Amino acid sequence: MRASAFKVTGGPEVLRLVDLPDPEPGPGEILIRVAYAGVNYGEIQHRLGDFGEPDGETVTGLEASGRVAALGEGVTGFSVGDPVTAYLPDGGGYAEYAVAPATFTFPLLVGLDLRTAGGAALVLTTAYGVLVGAARIAPGDTVLVHAAAGGVGGVAAQLARALGASEVYGTVSTPEKAEYARRSFGYDEVFVREGFPEAVLAATSGRGVDIVLDPVGGPTRLASFEVLAPFGRVAVYGEAARHPDLQLPVLPIWKNNRTLTGYNIGDLARRAPDTVRTHALAALALAASGAVRIDVTEEYALADTAEAHRLLGEGRNRGKVVLAVGDPA
Ligand SMILES: NC(=O)c1ccc[n+]([C@@H]2O[C@H](COP(=O)([O-])OP(=O)(O)OC[C@H]3O[C@@H](n4cnc5c(N)ncnc54)[C@H](OP(=O)(O)O)[C@@H]3O)[C@@H](O)[C@H]2O)c1
Repeated sequence: MRASAFKVTGGPEVLRLVDLPDPEPGPGEILIRVAYAGVNYGEIQHRLGDFGEPDGETVTGLEASGRVAALGEGVTGFSVGDPVTAYLPDGGGYAEYAVAPATFTFPLLVGLDLRTAGGAALVLTTAYGVLVGAARIAPGDTVLVHAAAGGVGGVAAQLARALGASEVYGTVSTPEKAEYARRSFGYDEVFVREGFPEAVLAATSGRGVDIVLDPVGGPTRLASFEVLAPFGRVAVYGEAARHPDLQLPVLPIWKNNRTLTGYNIGDLARRAPDTVRTHALAALALAASGAVRIDVTEEYALADTAEAHRLLGEGRNRGKVVLAVGDPA
């Protein structure tokens, strides 16, 4: 099969189109003939070596859509040819065939097409898990989403609203992204990140927000505590700005009635796979119903994966970026 792979870490140029043996599904796994694969920031970090050095040709890609090609031992409820969307905890989406655990493979619901579904399983499940599992969203909560125009951010804003948020704010790096996010994802207001605490406090009459979703880190993370309402939660789930980790004092947590919480889908997939599945099913249903829209803005051929990585790595992306891998029919 054709795959976009890397065997040394580095810039986008380490991604090359290679021929690899077709993978085989083990017990409890499904082989998918990939139609589309989502491109995610975590895959940029994988390629850069943030998750360790590769052992031979490495195919990243944490989500994909396509058709069932074969069933591993013990898998029921799927037939060869079924259209599916899957979260791939071990990667493998940037290839013509990928193996997914049956637990994280979902029939394509009416209302989702394969192209959109290619960029759905990771971002929807993550956004839902951050809001429900980590931030414990409740009806009436006010929410601030950093990286508001991105893949996870765009769906998080809409999921928050669907889960009862009363106001949803965002931050982005540029005025152009702010305009895009406002127009596309139903935010009450989107601010340029520089100076966001003042803007959020002004918009909320000084109260602040109940939840901050932070995949950016560094100074943005630190400043997020300043806009928390009493019992507010900062939910951290990424390091897009790749700043060194923060060393935070604990005293201000109780002095100011704050909560710091976190989310990592990889850890959850290992230790609580049924929770990941429950979150995925709930979020996919909201997307199929039209309550949450994934805005696919860019599509690249598998041979042009490096270009897609340049876009995301430089923070120029908006909405969802996908790779067109194989024939969806
Ligand atoms: N914990 C988990 O389980 C989990 C799962 C999935 C994703 N994530 C995390 O969620 C975040 C969003 O992922 P995504 O795939 O949807 O990406 P994305 O939000 O579509 O793209 C990443 C965004 O991060 C922002 N950013 C801030 N500083 C940056 C920098 N120095 N370089 C590049 N981008 C920078 C940019 O938005 P602005 O221009 O607005 O700054 C950029 O568009 C990432 O941090 C990712 O690691 C975590």
